[in-house]
Amino acid sequence: MINKQTGLSRQQKIGSGFGALSTADEVLSGIDLTGRTALVTGGYSGLGLETTRALSNAGARVVVPARRPETAEAALLSVPRTEVRPLDLADLESVRAFAEDFLDSGRTLDLVINNAGIMACPETRVGPSGWEAHFALNHLGHFALIHRLRPALAEAGARVVSVASSGHFLSDIRWDDLHFRTGYDRWLAYAQSKTANALFARHLDLLGADSNVRAFAVHPGSILTPLQRHIPREEWQAHGWVTDDGRPAAGFKTSQQGAATTLWAATSPLLDEHGGAYCQDCDIAEPATTDDMLLGGVKPWATDPASAARLWELSSELTGLSEF
Ligand SMILES: NC(=O)c1ccc[n+]([C@@H]2O[C@H](COP(=O)([O-])OP(=O)(O)OC[C@H]3O[C@@H](n4cnc5c(N)ncnc54)[C@H](OP(=O)(O)O)[C@@H]3O)[C@@H](O)[C@H]2O)c1
Repeated sequence: MINKQTGLSRQQKIGSGFGALSTADEVLSGIDLTGRTALVTGGYSGLGLETTRALSNAGARVVVPARRPETAEAALLSVPRTEVRPLDLADLESVRAFAEDFLDSGRTLDLVINNAGIMACPETRVGPSGWEAHFALNHLGHFALIHRLRPALAEAGARVVSVASSGHFLSDIRWDDLHFRTGYDRWLAYAQSKTANALFARHLDLLGADSNVRAFAVHPGSILTPLQRHIPREEWQAHGWVTDDGRPAAGFKTSQQGAATTLWAATSPLLDEHGGAYCQDCDIAEPATTDDMLLGGVKPWATDPASAARLWELSSELTGLSEF
């Protein structure tokens, strides 16, 4: 439902018939993507790999940009209709080269899944200006990628899905210190980047409306994947991620379930009139009423249209990409 005053989709469930336990293949069942081209960043590990597999199963051709192309080739060996191309999202030159190469091929893009990400890394600086790595890679790298691929998106009227996280609960955008010049905290750095992913989708949907480019943000759920690589195993139990005997804790999803909301947001006709929405468990998420990230929902700072516009402008300045 659209709010008549703001023109934005409300954060209100619409009843998709799917839920937290639905799988990637279930939400794509009956959807034929033959002849469609999708792009999945990080589509060779964890949730991205499941996303690529399901899109391929549904008939799509899937472009998988990879920081480690050989690893990606090996992971996708048995997944048909996939192609791996080198891309390091932490390097804007690499983003430019990838996008130019893709545009030169003359192809269009029907679906883009901004899925690649890092979580809770030790303090890491990237690029000539020493940007904080989570913000640089999770947000600015994807911002630059979508910016540069715009002609291919506009021609197809693409859907773009930003894989955000309920991790956004921990931080709004740190407008005065985006790059943690003081007081680095790895969880706040991840949280800020995931708020940025949600705001990015909000504003992209607004700017893309003329060319029928729609954008959504999703929280995939909690899933044990290589994402947790920076957290020592001994800490997993303290975080409530695993049981005493090392199995995923209650409320955790499988990777197949974790990829489902992304794929639902990428393909469901039910979302045609809900551009910019933040989704979880294969539905639009409602405003969060608690701080429990496992319950999820969305905090107000991750859907605020003024913040989304401000972040877009800041990101344009930082990346030098102004025209969209
Ligand atoms: N798992 C969860 O519980 C959970 C919860 C909420 C949100 N999410 C989000 O879901 C997304 C996927 O996470 P995942 O759990 O599937 O993690 P994952 O298995 O670690 O996958 C992350 C992917 O991002 C890629 N990547 C990392 N740095 C990159 C760079 N500089 N350039 C290009 N690609 C890069 C990785 O490539 P390499 O393997 O080569 O490093 C990998 O393919 C992330 O955005 C994450 O924030 C996950």
